[in-house]
Amino acid sequence: QAQSERESLLIALGFARDFFVKNLQTEEGKSIGLSYFKERGFGPAIIEKFDLGYALNGWDHLLNAAKKAGFTEDILLKAGLILQKEGDPDRKYDRFRNRVTFTIHNISGKPIGFGARILTKDKNQPKYINSPETAVYHKSDVLYGMYQAKKAIRDQDNCYLVEGYTDVISLHLSGIENVVASSGTSLTDGQIKLIKRFTNQVTVLYDGDSAGIKASLRGIDLLLEGGLNVKAVVFPEGEDPDSYSRKVGSKAFQEYLNSQSQDFIGFKIGLYQDEIKRDPIRKAEVIREVVQSIGKIPDPIVRSVYAKEASGLLDIEEEIVHAELNKGLLKSQ
Ligand code: UTP
Ligand code: MN
Ligand code: MN
Ligand code: MN
Ligand code: MN
Repeated sequence: QAQSERESLLIALGFARDFFVKNLQTEEGKSIGLSYFKERGFGPAIIEKFDLGYALNGWDHLLNAAKKAGFTEDILLKAGLILQKEGDPDRKYDRFRNRVTFTIHNISGKPIGFGARILTKDKNQPKYINSPETAVYHKSDVLYGMYQAKKAIRDQDNCYLVEGYTDVISLHLSGIENVVASSGTSLTDGQIKLIKRFTNQVTVLYDGDSAGIKASLRGIDLLLEGGLNVKAVVFPEGEDPDSYSRKVGSKAFQEYLNSQSQDFIGFKIGLYQDEIKRDPIRKAEVIREVVQSIGKIPDPIVRSVYAKEASGLLDIEEEIVHAELNKGLLKSQ
């Protein structure tokens, strides 16, 4: 019976998931992988829920097991599981080695890729190695955690958006299941469409560092352009949702989200609050920035509601906000 190549890749990726999951129960896996997860507060139930695993230390553990199970090198290559040696393309080796693994699922729960985290503080290697783009893993259409989150997103009518794999997992441990990760890259139209299948409300929870704040600002504009309602929460410097939820505990964390979540205008003004007070020129720039974001909103009624709010919060006449808004709208036509 003929199998499409996509089906073959999915079966190979399912095999790899099972392999990594089983590795976690070997002596090596227990002493290195399981203990790593344990230190982060990830126990057996959450390990199972997210298909967390362990890639053994060695060049060809997965390659050999998969070949023995009947997978060809060609399929393993196309699935992104193995690599060709440079200068000697006949030699193949495992992409994921000596790392804990995070399974990336499609919307129906099938494994389509992996992220794999280093276990040491070695700065010469990337912290995470990820699957490449393949025939079954279109990164721009995938959000990590969506399979586990979709029901809760619909029920809560809100989607928390975080940066990382471990942020998603820690939020689940805090009792928050409506959460997905952009995996450290800029949001795409495909990802925004995916969210819109389940809700029109996104709350951005990016890391409390300058990279996270920059990414929040970019993400907020993209989400507004996509016609979504956007809120955001700022975390204390150096904290991300994972570290902060473990630091304060789930109850205080949930209260923090509820009390700190503000719409995009409040978020932007909050970032520049001190500068605005001291410097009128800076205030003018912030007004322009806020108006630029409002201008991204496709619905004119929603736009006008935010224009009113901005004029109140920034203490500036509404006509001026509208005039500035119209300038931008003319330009973009
Ligand atoms: P972070 O650097 O914030 O990592 O990157 P993290 O998620 O907090 O991970 P821990 O807590 O140190 O384990 C956010 C996300 O960016 C992607 C990953 O998806 C990561 O979860 N990333 C980061 C990579 O793909 N490669 C990297 O080397 C680093
Ligand atoms: Mn695609
Ligand atoms: Mn970060
Ligand atoms: Mn982080
Ligand atoms: Mn982190």
